[in-house]
Amino acid sequence: MSVLSGKNVLLGISGGIAAYKTASLVRLFIKAGAHVQVIMTPASKDFVTPLTLSTLSKNPVYSSFYNDEEQEAEWNNHVDLGLWADLMVIAPATANTLSKMVNGNCDNLVIATYLSAKCPVYFAPAMDLDMYIHPSTVQNFTALKSFGNFIIPAETGDLASGLSGQGRMAEPENIISFIETDIENKLPLKGKTILITAGPTYEAIDPVRFIGNHSSGKMGFDIAKSAAHLGASVILVTGPTNLEVNNIFITVINVVSSQDMYDACHRYYNDVDVAIAAAAVADYRPKTIASQKIKKAADNFVIELEKTQDILYSFGLQKKQQFLIGFALETENEIENAKAKIQKKNLDLIVLNSLQDEGAGFRKETNKVTFIDKNFKIEPMLLKSKEAVADDIINKVRAYFDV
Ligand code: CTP
Repeated sequence: MSVLSGKNVLLGISGGIAAYKTASLVRLFIKAGAHVQVIMTPASKDFVTPLTLSTLSKNPVYSSFYNDEEQEAEWNNHVDLGLWADLMVIAPATANTLSKMVNGNCDNLVIATYLSAKCPVYFAPAMDLDMYIHPSTVQNFTALKSFGNFIIPAETGDLASGLSGQGRMAEPENIISFIETDIENKLPLKGKTILITAGPTYEAIDPVRFIGNHSSGKMGFDIAKSAAHLGASVILVTGPTNLEVNNIFITVINVVSSQDMYDACHRYYNDVDVAIAAAAVADYRPKTIASQKIKKAADNFVIELEKTQDILYSFGLQKKQQFLIGFALETENEIENAKAKIQKKNLDLIVLNSLQDEGAGFRKETNKVTFIDKNFKIEPMLLKSKEAVADDIINKVRAYFDV
């Protein structure tokens, strides 16, 4: 999933031949999951039609301060447009538009909106090679950068003039990847690796039967998504679930038994910055696994169980740089039991679920948790969706790293 997904993108088009490429640019933004609105300078409409862009963006395209069709003049609010945007892209940015933006000379809707926008603004300049390196243009780039704007360098190749050199607007794919990379690099958890366990484990009895539990895995998957959304690189070790995740920041490792989960986790644990144990790992497993399906015979049947390895305990034992978060599911003496688990498993934070709380627990969309940190500071939270609880957990990680 692109970091542009869900973002409001305002595309300002000025009048250069490269404007014809903005149709592809709009399509790529939409494909990345962004919402797009387009504003155009009057001159740009000679190069690409508003109809093309409104069809692709699925939104009206604005190019003047008001619409006066059918005598009902309607003001196109550049302030609203500017404030709507999460990011603004000026593509192509002609020498004329760049210069006017540097000076705040706001004689069209694109420039007025630029002056109203509080979001990051990216410029994709397009002009002939000598114009591109003219001291006036270079000075304008410097000025725009000093305003906090970003310049997406023009590319080298054949130009509309027939000359060849640097000045072509960056290709739409390259504009998208420039912006994506810039956003990704600024995400607060960029550079942090988080190991998360999720779901149940299945402990085999024979080739067709197992001991399992009702964990859906949703809590762990939501934590993974929340962390990835903020730029963390996530390793999600999950037992069998029906869930899927499609995010380039999340590596999913599917396991079945608690031993598989233990082994998979310890391939990564040493190097991670954070470990979050959200899995409902079986505490016991059959001591022996029958090699053939067990036949029904006697009226009573006893399976001897042995303890599984406690993955979280092993994390606590080997803890160095890792910020370690565990879960506790309790039905009585919740706080005292959770505090004991913090000490026993050497945790930094425990997320306590009480089954006595309405709306908490397995196979629910909601959760009500209490955070207890290693200094035993207790923070009861409200009943929330599991997504919101996941965000709260990741906010604890952010607070720890002060990002
Ligand atoms: N956990 C784990 N490996 C296990 C058992 C538990 O990593 N074999 C982790 C869980 O993911 C959870 C935490 O330990 O983060 C608490 O699990 P829980 O079953 O509530 O506690 P236990 O320590 O097993 O104690 P008890 O079952 O007696 O409450």
